[in-house]
Amino acid sequence: MSGVTIELDGRKVQVQPGLSILQAAANCGVEIPHLCTCDGLRTEGNCRSCLVEVQGERNLVASCSRSVKPGMVVQINSPRAVKNRALVLELMLSDLPQGGDYGELSTAAAQAGVTVRPALQAQRAPAPHAHDASHPAMQVNLDACIQCTRCVRACRESQVNGVIGLAGRGADTHIVFDLSDPMGLSSCVACGECVQACPTGAISAKPLASATHETAEAFGTKPGQCVRFNAQDKTVDSVCPYCGVGCLLTYHVQDNKIISVDGRDGPANHG
Ligand code: SF4
Ligand code: SF4
Ligand code: FES
Repeated sequence: MSGVTIELDGRKVQVQPGLSILQAAANCGVEIPHLCTCDGLRTEGNCRSCLVEVQGERNLVASCSRSVKPGMVVQINSPRAVKNRALVLELMLSDLPQGGDYGELSTAAAQAGVTVRPALQAQRAPAPHAHDASHPAMQVNLDACIQCTRCVRACRESQVNGVIGLAGRGADTHIVFDLSDPMGLSSCVACGECVQACPTGAISAKPLASATHETAEAFGTKPGQCVRFNAQDKTVDSVCPYCGVGCLLTYHVQDNKIISVDGRDGPANHG
């Protein structure tokens, strides 16, 4: 298949037709920030953290959901694109309690040198959500949610479980489990796909244990920190025994007992 020639920040490159600008740039070693898009999930283009300029277009373009075209001239790091991406990150952060670790969002903000201006923070003070710890293995903290819908696509499309949906309108839009049930009382089958998909930690695995002042040194961690992976003796790559699709996973083992499980990427994991 012949390639498509485009220009990225003044550099002519040949890329595969059909790729998004984001994918084409990544293949050329240029990372464009992105949050609602990740490998293995359908692109939705709802967060705008990946905005770039395309010559001849008045509006900035979401690079994750725009395909490359022959002769396309893309400015990833023009002052306008950089400024708008920074504003998007700042607006997202301003909706969350300050000072938290929001995973990929915090990383993207740190890389862009973005912090929330106090005047903006004062205007957007978010209403806190109740934390949902009803599930034995996972917890939900919607204070950290940016409504990117990665968990919705992971649950509905990758795993075809259809547990997570979106409810509400406008600023009240939020994810729900079944008919707004607590996660632990929903039809969730505990596959963990939403945990792996969530970029901010709004849905996360519960720590199996926390180090105390007495045990922290032995686990090589700090008091209060999760000891989940520090405590393992070994890891064993295996296959999920649940439904027969054959998703790959890795067991973390201590004293010949499985203490936690992580997904391991493979063709069957994508449904
Ligand atoms: S863990 Fe539950 S809610 Fe999350 S993707 Fe799997 S079935 Fe859906
Ligand atoms: S819970 Fe996580 S993955 Fe789901 S919409 Fe919120 S931030 Fe995105
Ligand atoms: S990553 Fe492109 S719009 Fe979210």
